[in-house]
Amino acid sequence: MAKKHDIAIIGAGNLGIAIAKGITGAKLAKPKNMYLTRRHLEKLDGLKKQKFQITSDNIEAVQHSEYIFLCVQPKQLAAVLDEINPVLDPEKHVLISTITGVEISTIEEHLEAQMPIIRAMPNTATAIQESMTCMCGKNVSEDQLKDVKTLFEALGEAMIIDENLMKAATVLAASGIAFFLRYIRAATQGGIQLGFHAEEAQKIAMQTARGAASLLVEGEHHPETEIDKVTTPQGCTIAGLNEMEHQGLSSAVIKGLMASFEKINTITQ
Ligand SMILES: NC(=O)c1ccc[n+]([C@@H]2O[C@H](COP(=O)([O-])OP(=O)(O)OC[C@H]3O[C@@H](n4cnc5c(N)ncnc54)[C@H](OP(=O)(O)O)[C@@H]3O)[C@@H](O)[C@H]2O)c1
Repeated sequence: MAKKHDIAIIGAGNLGIAIAKGITGAKLAKPKNMYLTRRHLEKLDGLKKQKFQITSDNIEAVQHSEYIFLCVQPKQLAAVLDEINPVLDPEKHVLISTITGVEISTIEEHLEAQMPIIRAMPNTATAIQESMTCMCGKNVSEDQLKDVKTLFEALGEAMIIDENLMKAATVLAASGIAFFLRYIRAATQGGIQLGFHAEEAQKIAMQTARGAASLLVEGEHHPETEIDKVTTPQGCTIAGLNEMEHQGLSSAVIKGLMASFEKINTITQ
């Protein structure tokens, strides 16, 4: 980041704490420059000992900060926006909403000033700094967007997208965690049937999944290039792979993504 900014996390729960730890872990801000808020402060005692600024006063946190992460549950957002609206300053503050399914225009309805707003969709791997975070912005400068992308890169990878792709990003990256985990569970079950103990089968499945992803990340190849290296003609890999495809593997994944997308369109604006 061009310069260090004071940062507020309004709603320091699972995601808010992961963001705070990722940012300080990457030395993008010091704990004393981060204001974490929630109503039940006793749950932040550990972070207070690490010198984070802990308060239940959202206004105080906003007044001390420039970048303001909104990390409350969707149903709690309206009250928080109404509360901080009087002290928001478009010349000073950037709002960063992580709230699932809430469009920037909905946030704007609660605000008097035309604020710089960034909407971000991380996934649960933020907790181990391996998130895939998609983000988009409105009324933000290039520097502000770049700064916030850098903050999210402390939690994994980040990508700037159009807001109209945000629901698709939610399905692919946030729900996507569950889809990949289910594959690992299925491979574990198969491994047990092949003779491994459950924990051995899971370890083999997990590391193999990590290896497959790393081959693509580090080699920057198409998946099929890596698959070609493993599929000996008339061998066991192509036999297994083709049987999975006969059973509808690729089709099931694509149909699952479409079903999630249809559902998200019925439950959010
Ligand atoms: N978890 C993820 O990986 C993830 C990924 C993508 C998006 N999200 C989105 O991120 C948001 C937070 O998710 P989460 O899993 O972190 O939920 P969470 O653990 O329930 O955190 C929400 C926090 O907000 C606090 N809070 C509620 N009302 C408040 C208020 N008026 N002022 C200040 N703090 C308040 C709550 O603490 P008190 O009750 O003590 O106030 C709680 O700690 C959700 O909107 C979710 O859709 C989460």
